[in-house]
Amino acid sequence: MDRHPRDSDRISVLVADITTLKVDAIVNAANNSLVGGGGVDGAIHNAAGPQLWEECRRIGGCPTGEACITRGYRLAARWIIHTVGPIWQGGDDGEDDLLACCYRNSLNLGRQYGIKSIAFPAISAGVYGFPMERACRIALREMKAFQKNNSEIEIIAVCFSNGAYQCYQDAMREL
Ligand code: APR
Repeated sequence: MDRHPRDSDRISVLVADITTLKVDAIVNAANNSLVGGGGVDGAIHNAAGPQLWEECRRIGGCPTGEACITRGYRLAARWIIHTVGPIWQGGDDGEDDLLACCYRNSLNLGRQYGIKSIAFPAISAGVYGFPMERACRIALREMKAFQKNNSEIEIIAVCFSNGAYQCYQDAMREL
């Protein structure tokens, strides 16, 4: 995985299908029911196989802003951290804070499980309508804050388009 010039110490940004990454954990942009869906949620469930759905059903659900962890099953990643981002309502309904909680809670949960490399999609920036420029700044701010005390953990921001990648690179320059 080649590093990009503007990547900070242990935060990388790349364009990829997150289900293909060989990292300790990938993060899923789930919904409150955890039963799967479209977007990255659908891709992860399709790649991980039916046992993932079984484990998610046993967990039963996840509140917005929180995170839970399952095995990765058929994925190269050992773990999947499921987090539920806020649905964009215009920005005055606490969406920024809830999105920040998704990253913070996912990173802390990964640390509890001894994870040394973790890859995030752009939580809420798809179906949930969160503006990408705003979402990536929240993501990078939380990643950088976490890494101050956890520099041994590699964090990867995974983009699914060149447009998203450019947003992250622009935000990386500013932060
Ligand atoms: N790898 C990496 N990123 C991906 C992939 C993939 N395979 N597929 C989609 N993405 C990107 C999207 O382009 C977007 O930038 O992930 C980001 C998040 O988009 P969504 O998957 O739509 O997630 P979100 O906006 O958080 O909406 C969650 O969508 O799929 C349903 O069940 C899910 O109800 C939940 C909602």
